[in-house]
Amino acid sequence: MSKAELVLIPTPGTGHLISAVEFAKLIIKHDQRISILVIIFHIPIHSTTTKVNTYIESQSLAVDPQRITFLTLPSLPDSDIPDPASSNFFNNMVQLQKPLVKQAIMDRLIKPVAFVFDLMCVNLVDIAKEFQLPCYVYFTAGASLLNLMFHFQALFDDHGIDISTAYSNLSDNVGLGLDLPGFRNRVPAKVLPSSLFDKDSGFAMFFNHLSRKFRETDGILVNTFMELEPGIIQCLQEQDKIPEVYPVGPILALHDDNNGGDREPVMRWLDEQPDSSVVFLCFGSMGSFDEDQVREIANGLDRSGQRFLWALRRPISESSYVLPSENETFEDALPPGFLDRTAHRGKIIGWAPQVQVLAHRAVGGFVSHCGWNSILEAIWFGVPIATWPMYSEQQINAFEMVKEVQVAVEIRMDYQRNLMNKDANFMVTSSEVENGVKKLMSMDDAMRGRISKMKNISREVLECDGSSYTSFTCFISKVLQSVGDQ
Ligand SMILES: *[C@@H]1O[C@H](CO)[C@@H](O)[C@H](O)[C@H]1NC(C)=O
Ligand SMILES: *[C@@H]1O[C@H](CO)[C@@H](O)[C@H](O)[C@H]1NC(C)=O
Ligand SMILES: *[C@@H]1O[C@H](CO)[C@@H](O)[C@H](O)[C@H]1NC(C)=O
Repeated sequence: MSKAELVLIPTPGTGHLISAVEFAKLIIKHDQRISILVIIFHIPIHSTTTKVNTYIESQSLAVDPQRITFLTLPSLPDSDIPDPASSNFFNNMVQLQKPLVKQAIMDRLIKPVAFVFDLMCVNLVDIAKEFQLPCYVYFTAGASLLNLMFHFQALFDDHGIDISTAYSNLSDNVGLGLDLPGFRNRVPAKVLPSSLFDKDSGFAMFFNHLSRKFRETDGILVNTFMELEPGIIQCLQEQDKIPEVYPVGPILALHDDNNGGDREPVMRWLDEQPDSSVVFLCFGSMGSFDEDQVREIANGLDRSGQRFLWALRRPISESSYVLPSENETFEDALPPGFLDRTAHRGKIIGWAPQVQVLAHRAVGGFVSHCGWNSILEAIWFGVPIATWPMYSEQQINAFEMVKEVQVAVEIRMDYQRNLMNKDANFMVTSSEVENGVKKLMSMDDAMRGRISKMKNISREVLECDGSSYTSFTCFISKVLQSVGDQ
């Protein structure tokens, strides 16, 4: 019998949303007494609205309605919607949801016991305060990003140091790198999440604002595990101005059957390949390249001689936010003869069922954009990564996996595309692709051992008495204890 309702408010973009819903499922599995109200709002720009709706519909049918309820907030009138091109767009959108969320809570028969906000929605802590309820953040990225966010915000607020202007100075000290809290190695400035702390775009202000809001919460649940980022998590846990940090991951959507596309041909092709022989290249939902870069990758794969499965997508058009069709590939950008030459050992697809591919015995390596979910999935299935970051904090994730955890090889750690104009800072050459792929597929036993060990740990931490399980238990007892206090 449920007696405590948690309110969970995810960011309605597929990565964040799916992770948050999996988190909700884990909570109710963990404790019979808790039920969850998931409040969904819409961001009226990209084609994600349909995707979000479809996803929520399928999840509503899949979960126990007594335990997880989905509630979609009414859309805002068009006249209220802020300018999507402004850097403050997302924050304003969240701000505008406040009265709607408040109303939704007041309409409930029973008062909830606590709020959990996605990291991007942390502005809503004000509502928790109005209702005098504890609130938590669900942080879908790694502890390394959380740590950097706090660090940069403290530099700015306490010491007047603006990290975005400091970058140019820092970059001059190439080779030296920075001594950052929680990292064992010095961190090169070029792998810092500069796009998130870019003053001109206004993102720096937004991220510092988020960090300040994090400090007002009662705890931060991070989709990671202690054994993966020990130094960084410890560093966070030791600071008294940072709320309790709970590493509760890896939280993965392993059984999501509703992710579109036809997986049959891909899986059939993989079935025909030898064990651990295929390099899988996939760059995430936002990951696409221009034609010149596509040719470099193709030539690199061609010369590597490796088997490959390449999720290749047309670039997202600049004028619209519409994502390209999921099964539309980009074959006209390939070098002449490439498809014929590689037909016996390679397959190009427009959309990849990533989890199923990584789980397949034929896959021996993963060229990845190093989005946090992708990293956790690769670790879960013990697939070595070759890093090719693209956006947001992916460069620091790549650095962490290559240098700190040592479960990945580098193609590049400092490649960057600008989210707005899609410009890249440089081109990755075909030789870099060729060498990276060869290195990935001929990795030494020491690294294989570390990957196998981390794979095992990533599963053990979720079992009874594992580190994430214990962390979860602490969080839940804190939430339930606050019920007792009322
Ligand atoms: C960058 O370097 C210049 C010259 O060394 C110095 O005056 C300035 O304060 C530095 N800026 C930052 C943000 O560290
Ligand atoms: C994509 O694939 C689906 C199902 O496999 C199909 O119904 C749809 O027409 C395809 N779209 C394009 C643009 O080819
Ligand atoms: C991981 O677990 C498997 C299966 O239990 C075991 O065979 C393997 O030796 C473990 N690997 C390491 C490095 O502990």
